[in-house]
Amino acid sequence: MRMSLFVKASPAAVKKAAAFIRGGGTAVFPTETVYGLGADALNAKAVARIFEIKKRPRFDPLIVHVASIRQAKTLARVSAGAEALMKRFWPGPLTLVLPKKKIMPDIVTAGLATVALRMPNNPTALALIKAAGTPIAAPSANSFGSLSPTTAAHARNQLKNGPDIILDAGRTRIGVESTVLTFRKGKGFILRHGGLPREEIERVTGSLDTALKGGKKPASPGQLIKHYSPRAPLRIIRATPLKPGKGLRYGYLAFTTRPSAAVKIFRILSGSGNLEEAAANLFSHLHELDAAGVDIILAEPVPAKGLGRAIMDRLKRASTPEKKRGGV
Ligand code: TXA
Ligand code: MG
Repeated sequence: MRMSLFVKASPAAVKKAAAFIRGGGTAVFPTETVYGLGADALNAKAVARIFEIKKRPRFDPLIVHVASIRQAKTLARVSAGAEALMKRFWPGPLTLVLPKKKIMPDIVTAGLATVALRMPNNPTALALIKAAGTPIAAPSANSFGSLSPTTAAHARNQLKNGPDIILDAGRTRIGVESTVLTFRKGKGFILRHGGLPREEIERVTGSLDTALKGGKKPASPGQLIKHYSPRAPLRIIRATPLKPGKGLRYGYLAFTTRPSAAVKIFRILSGSGNLEEAAANLFSHLHELDAAGVDIILAEPVPAKGLGRAIMDRLKRASTPEKKRGGV
């Protein structure tokens, strides 16, 4: 157990966090998607701390956060197609997997020849990267496999083996992680559905694929089947509602309307069926149902379009039975 400084994000707090990062330490910071656990991406030892704090396996590479396209170009080879996407969507919830330059330590990329880059659309995050004067490697600030943090308190509650500082800037706006895109022979493939809907990217690139799954190695090592999980087992309700066994307390995650009066512990993702609102609420509602101490969480499916794809992806991974845990 190692305590972290927990402070409201302010210019002085950002300065302090930047000093920790420059000195090889770690800082939790807000982005527009979820909170990140950051360290200097060019300092292999500092990055190793991220893996320790998160209990993340070393084969799972990190996203490197930059404050400009120019900075991205110091870390990776940026094709014309990738640059067009950066110009259109950065800062924003789009991560691009690109051929890395030598400067990137292997620990960041888990030995891959590519590095994942993104420029977050959050003033605290951008100020931190600029003040640190170095790109910041940062996975989501949760313990590996658990629910992602959309508040600073979520991060504090999960990361017991203290990051040096946690910057609190309230709830994150988007609430699901960035969309991860890679390129093969110039064509884009989505490795993870996320905060930038596929339809918006396709307006620039034409139709995208998500079929990069074959082969022995997963194309995106972080896409383990079991992920984003509450403590309580989660089931997605299909046609017939699951009947929990006698005496079980269950929590219910509804999409738009409250379940029957018999269900006491429930959360509604979006009363108006708005998928952006639903995504923003997803993890905080799951954190709350979990904290209520339920034995099982039943979740309604949402339409698989726009941000609904990212929501369904998180629910499916959270609902994977224990026996399938741990590998693609
Ligand atoms: O919104 C986000 O992306 C958040 C915030 C903090 O920026 N970060 C985040 O990081 O979700 P993380 O580490 O939880 O997820 C990174 C994902 C993983 O699925 C990882 O396998 C994939 O990106 N990834 C990273 N580098 C990769 C690479 N070189 N090739 C393929 N996939 C990569
Ligand atoms: Mg994560």
